[in-house]
Amino acid sequence: MPTSTPWLQPDSPTRYGSVSRCFHWGMALGFACMFAAALTRFFAKDSALYELLWPIHRPLGTLMLLLVVLRAAWSLLHARQRPAHTHQAARLGHLALYALMAAVPLVALLRQYGSGRGFAPWGIPLMDARTDDKIEWMTELGSLLHGPLGWVLLACVVGHVGMALWHRRPGHTDVLPRMLGQAEPR
Ligand code: HEM
Ligand code: HEM
Repeated sequence: MPTSTPWLQPDSPTRYGSVSRCFHWGMALGFACMFAAALTRFFAKDSALYELLWPIHRPLGTLMLLLVVLRAAWSLLHARQRPAHTHQAARLGHLALYALMAAVPLVALLRQYGSGRGFAPWGIPLMDARTDDKIEWMTELGSLLHGPLGWVLLACVVGHVGMALWHRRPGHTDVLPRMLGQAEPR
């Protein structure tokens, strides 16, 4: 008799559950849009793609910060149920991704606040415009770190995807099925 798969799978030692997978793949899509916007700004500022993508960079980036906080809380709460890291390097790599996913939008928002300009992502008034002076250390820190850390995050993502594909070779632990919900729970 065929067994039906529950649509809401919890995290388990052999695969990530539905909520973890939604966070992972939903945010991967979000980061693809963020980096596409940044890359077109860098390489093709006159293009229609840039006109389309750049206006969403700041509101989507702000949403990504909220999502990474929720995702980190979820992963900490379910740390014991989730698949174990295959290597210490994988644990450190994932930690670095989390740190950068939070730091990159955080320094941008700090710069935004320091500039004194109002900011209402998705129409939600997050920061009121101020008439007093700019807060120099915030604008300077943001300008110094946002771009470089953003590119470091992109490099880490490329490395992360490369490692996930590398581990698909025979003789290695293929970790992709756990993020696709394919492995059976123990
Ligand atoms: C998930 C988060 C984010 C990522 C991965 C990201 C990534 C990047 C990257 C790679 C650049 C290009 C830097 C360069 O041209 O050298 C950039 C530029 C920029 N980002 Fe973001 N960003 C994020 C969130 C935000 C947020 C939340 C804001 C504002 C509230 C923001 C505002 C800007 C601005 C104004 C620029 C152009 C000025 C600059 O180069 O710093 N970003 N971003
Ligand atoms: C095509 C793109 C991607 C692929 C194929 C992929 C693949 C995977 C796989 C197979 C795992 C499980 C690894 C393990 O358990 O050892 C994983 C976990 C993870 N991935 Fe990705 N990934 C992609 C994009 C991204 C992006 C864009 C980010 C963040 C910027 C990211 C962040 C993470 C993190 C933090 C984990 C640890 C589990 C968690 O807490 O969600 N991944 N990824």
